[in-house]
Amino acid sequence: MKKHFTSKPEELKERWPGDFTAVESSWLDAVADIPTPLFVVTSWKANGKENACMQSRATFSAAYGKYYCVLGWVRTAGHMYKTLKETGCCVLNFFSGDISGKCFDTIENNSYDTDEITASGLTAEKARSVNAPLIKESFLNIECEYLWEHELLPGDSSMAVVALKAVGIYIDDEYSGDTDKKRWLEWVGRH
Ligand SMILES: Cc1cc2nc3c(=O)[nH]c(=O)nc-3n(C[C@H](O)[C@H](O)[C@H](O)COP(=O)(O)O)c2cc1C
Repeated sequence: MKKHFTSKPEELKERWPGDFTAVESSWLDAVADIPTPLFVVTSWKANGKENACMQSRATFSAAYGKYYCVLGWVRTAGHMYKTLKETGCCVLNFFSGDISGKCFDTIENNSYDTDEITASGLTAEKARSVNAPLIKESFLNIECEYLWEHELLPGDSSMAVVALKAVGIYIDDEYSGDTDKKRWLEWVGRH
């Protein structure tokens, strides 16, 4: 049987505190509960320190031989947005379960004067194709250049949709070729 909702179902439970009240949330999102990839965006802050920002609202697409990432919800007051505009680039770092705790620690290690990758027990390396650090322990790193942005809600500059173009990619042998399935299961299983 299929149910139709136009308002929050009484029985719906929060998946996390603030799920129905936070600015980036909606009960419709909780009902649909569509899995999204989880990754850390890394870049250099203006003071030369590493920035790291967890992202989950994103999609990937390809056209005419190019590969794109669209970040669907970027807080424009955050360090990630600022560094992206300053440097014009970043790296998307995908992680397996064994380093997920450290990746989540980047959220707490969010001060401007902190090397956020190093402070979270991870290893920062310079990316080859863009001017940004990457997380060495990630099984997949996508080097990206900033393309364009748009207000998510017209008239509200606090949240942006940001498009990136991939210019380079690193992938661990264990996660390429025939083992693709394993990678997808890890991503989907995390949500
Ligand atoms: C599971 C999870 C998913 C997140 N997804 C996003 C996201 O898609 N967009 C975003 O702007 N912040 C997201 N956040 C919040 C940021 O990761 C967090 O506010 C971060 O510390 C901001 O870093 P910044 O100051 O470098 O921008 C997410 C946090 C968690 C725990």
